[in-house]
Amino acid sequence: MFGASGGVGGALAARLADRGYEVAALTRKPLPDWPGRQARFDLEDEASLAAAAAELKDGAPIRRVIVATGLLHAEGVAPERSNSGLDATQLLRLYAINAVGPALIAKHFLPLLPRGERSVFAALSARVGSIGDNRLGGWHSYRASKAALNMLIRTMAIELKRTRPEAILVGLHPGTVDTDLSKPFQRSVPEGRLFTPDESAKRLLAVLDGLRVEDSGAVFAWDGARIPE
Ligand SMILES: NC(=O)c1ccc[n+]([C@@H]2O[C@H](COP(=O)([O-])OP(=O)(O)OC[C@H]3O[C@@H](n4cnc5c(N)ncnc54)[C@H](OP(=O)(O)O)[C@@H]3O)[C@@H](O)[C@H]2O)c1
Repeated sequence: MFGASGGVGGALAARLADRGYEVAALTRKPLPDWPGRQARFDLEDEASLAAAAAELKDGAPIRRVIVATGLLHAEGVAPERSNSGLDATQLLRLYAINAVGPALIAKHFLPLLPRGERSVFAALSARVGSIGDNRLGGWHSYRASKAALNMLIRTMAIELKRTRPEAILVGLHPGTVDTDLSKPFQRSVPEGRLFTPDESAKRLLAVLDGLRVEDSGAVFAWDGARIPE
């Protein structure tokens, strides 16, 4: 579980551990309360991803990889409200965290998936990364970085089909979830549509359980619906 320190990632890791899976928590900083295996990585440091892959490769077989990292706002980073708010540094930062980092994780971890049996690699994306679904505008760098992630997923899934036909590579939209990432933007969320991280994790795991190899390369929402490209 990449991003086990985050809201959705923490809930996914806890639910998978409750199911009895051996879950390795991959984070930037140590997780003091995690009882299982841990490893460090930073999305902006490919060598740390290669080192994490080398470290985990000799443990239990890796049948699921979930990347629950992401960035929407931070110090000096805020979603754009207008075209004039575009800023090259912010655009590149969101690309680095939301698209490049998860794709490099896939580069280093897809080769570790077993051959000849079902496995799943899922990266948390977002519905706003859908080009076809974009009617509101705004949030340029977040939208564009998630659209880029979705394209990388589709592209890598095509090769994966040839090398590991039983493996599934998808993007996931977790719904709007009550985490640090969504905190400043929760006022406009309709009543009953703000999930707890645990509720979202429960739904996402149900989606992952139901995926078939034909679904590889696509992006699915928390309710199992396929998100348009
Ligand atoms: N929450 C929502 O409503 C919502 C909606 C749609 C999509 N999503 C997507 O769902 C995913 C999870 O979001 P969340 O709400 O759980 O966010 P969150 O609580 O803010 O967690 C973000 C995670 O990303 C990690 N991260 C950020 N930069 C990193 C880096 N350079 N290296 C390694 N890890 C890094 C954070 O690690 P640290 O703890 O070290 O900072 C944290 O574990 C994201 O991809 C987000 O875009 C969320």
